[in-house]
Amino acid sequence: MARRIMILDTTLRDGEQTPGVNLNTEEKTAIAKQLEALGVDTIEAGFAITSKGDFEAVKAVAESVEKCVVTSLARAVKKDIDIAWEAVKNAKKPGIHTFIATSDIHMKYKLRMTEDEVLQKTADMVAYAKQYTDYVEFSAEDASRSRREFLYKVYETAIEAGAIMLNVPDTVGYTTPDEFGKLIRDIKENVKGIGKVGISVHCHNDLGLAVANSLAAIMNGADLIECTINGLGERAGNAALEEIIMALDTREDFFGFTHSINTKRISKTSSLVSTLTGISIQPNKAIVGKNAFAHESGIHQHGVLAEKTTYEIMTPESIGLMHNSMVLGKHSGRHAFEERLHEMGYELSKDDLNDAFVKFKDLADKKKHVQTEDLEAILLDKMFKVEEVFKLDSFQINSGNKLIATATIRLKTDGEFITEAATGDGPVDAALNAIERCMDYPMKLEDYKIKAVTGGKDAMGEVNVRIAKDGKRFVGHGVSTDILEASIRAYLNAANRAYSVLVLKKNGE
Ligand code: KIV
Ligand code: ZN
Repeated sequence: MARRIMILDTTLRDGEQTPGVNLNTEEKTAIAKQLEALGVDTIEAGFAITSKGDFEAVKAVAESVEKCVVTSLARAVKKDIDIAWEAVKNAKKPGIHTFIATSDIHMKYKLRMTEDEVLQKTADMVAYAKQYTDYVEFSAEDASRSRREFLYKVYETAIEAGAIMLNVPDTVGYTTPDEFGKLIRDIKENVKGIGKVGISVHCHNDLGLAVANSLAAIMNGADLIECTINGLGERAGNAALEEIIMALDTREDFFGFTHSINTKRISKTSSLVSTLTGISIQPNKAIVGKNAFAHESGIHQHGVLAEKTTYEIMTPESIGLMHNSMVLGKHSGRHAFEERLHEMGYELSKDDLNDAFVKFKDLADKKKHVQTEDLEAILLDKMFKVEEVFKLDSFQINSGNKLIATATIRLKTDGEFITEAATGDGPVDAALNAIERCMDYPMKLEDYKIKAVTGGKDAMGEVNVRIAKDGKRFVGHGVSTDILEASIRAYLNAANRAYSVLVLKKNGE
C-alpha cells in the first residue's frame, strides 16, 4: 500500500520569520483555519516565548483548530517549554516542538556548549516537555552540517527521553538531494530505536533546493515534510507546500505516496497568505504564480488548444483555479450565488452570506460580469474586518497634471462626522493625508500594492497596504471598482487596526 506522507505547515512560525512579515492573532487564526481546510496534519502556530502577541496568537490558533496537531516551537529551555505548553494546551491535539543546535559551528559560536552539554540538555528538555504532552517533536538544528556520529547520539537521546518525531533540519539550505537522502538513510540505519518514532525534514531554500531535498528525504524514508505556503520563511524561505504536493500528485507514478492535502484549496490558501503577509507571489512561481498556467508563445498556444497535455502537466482546476462558464451578473439570484461559493469551497454563516450577497449585488451594478476572482476578493475583504472606529462616509478628490492633488475625506466616528482636506504628491497621497488629519493619528505608510482582480476596464482594484505605528506593523486591504476608493479603504482598514490595538486596547476599552 502507498505510504502516506504527513505535512507540517510552518507558515505561521518559520513563514512569519520572513523579513517584513508580522501577522496579528486575527490573521494567524484565519490562516490556520484555511490550513485546516487544506488538510495539513500539523500546524506549527508560532514561537510562543518570543512575545506576548506570539503567545496570544498560538493560543488562539490552538483553540480554533480541531483536526490538526497544533505545536509551538520552544528552545531546549524550561521557560520556553512552559510557555509553549501554556499556549497550546487547549488544542484538541497539542504538541511541543523543542530544538537545540548540533553542528560544531552552532555549538561553538552560538550555544557555547560542548557535545556532552548538548546531549544532556536534549535528554532533560525532551523529558521535561514529555511531562506535558505525548506529542513531542525534537529538532537537531543545523543537522545537515552536524558531525554524523554525534547527531546519531543526539537522536538516540531524544528517543530515549520520549520524542515521537525527530526532525532533520537543513537550517541553512546547504545540502543537496543525494546527500540529504543519504543522511536520512544513514539515520534510519544507525540510530537505535528509530523505528519507534517518525522522521521529519525541514529544508531551507538558500540554494533553491528545499523542495528537491524534501522529496529526496521522503524517497529515503522520511515520514513528514515541514513546509510553508508560497515557500515563505527565513532568508530564501522554506520548502513550498504547494510545490511538494503537486510534485507528489503529478508524478505519482514516480513517487507513489499519498497525502491528506485537498489540492483544490491550494490557490485560495496561497492568495490568502500572500494578502495577509503582504508578500506578493512572483509571476513565474511554480504552481501558484500568475503565469504558472499561462501560455505565451504561438507554438505552445497552438499545442494547448489542440490538446492540453502537450504543454500542461497539471490542470489549473487541480489547484482550485476555476473557469466557470455560468456567468454571475446583476440578474443572478441568491441561489446561483450560494452555489458558486459552495463550488469555491466556502461555507459561510447566514450573516456572512447575507453580507457577501449584498456586496456581490453592489458590485454587479458596477461590473457586468462578476467572476470567481471578484468573489474571492469580496470574501477576502471580510477576513480583514476590524472594528471600524473610523468609518468612511464620503470622499472627493481633485487631481490632474497641472493641479495640486487635493482630497476631502469625511469619516464617521462615535456618531459624529469629521471632515478634513489635504494636499499630496498625487491623489492617493492626498487622500491618505486627509485620513490622518481626520483621525489625528499620523502613521507611516511602508508598503502600497495595487492590482487588478480580473482583466477588463471594469476590473476591481485590490489594494494592500502595510503601515507602521509605534514600532508595530499593520496590514490593510480594500477592494472597489474605483482604485482611489480601494486605496482609501485599505489605508483606513490598516489605520483602524492600529488604532484598536494601540489606543483602544491600551486604554482597556
Ligand atoms: O531551520 C531550522 O532549523 C528551524 C528549526 C527550529 C526547526 O527552523
Ligand atoms: Zn527553519
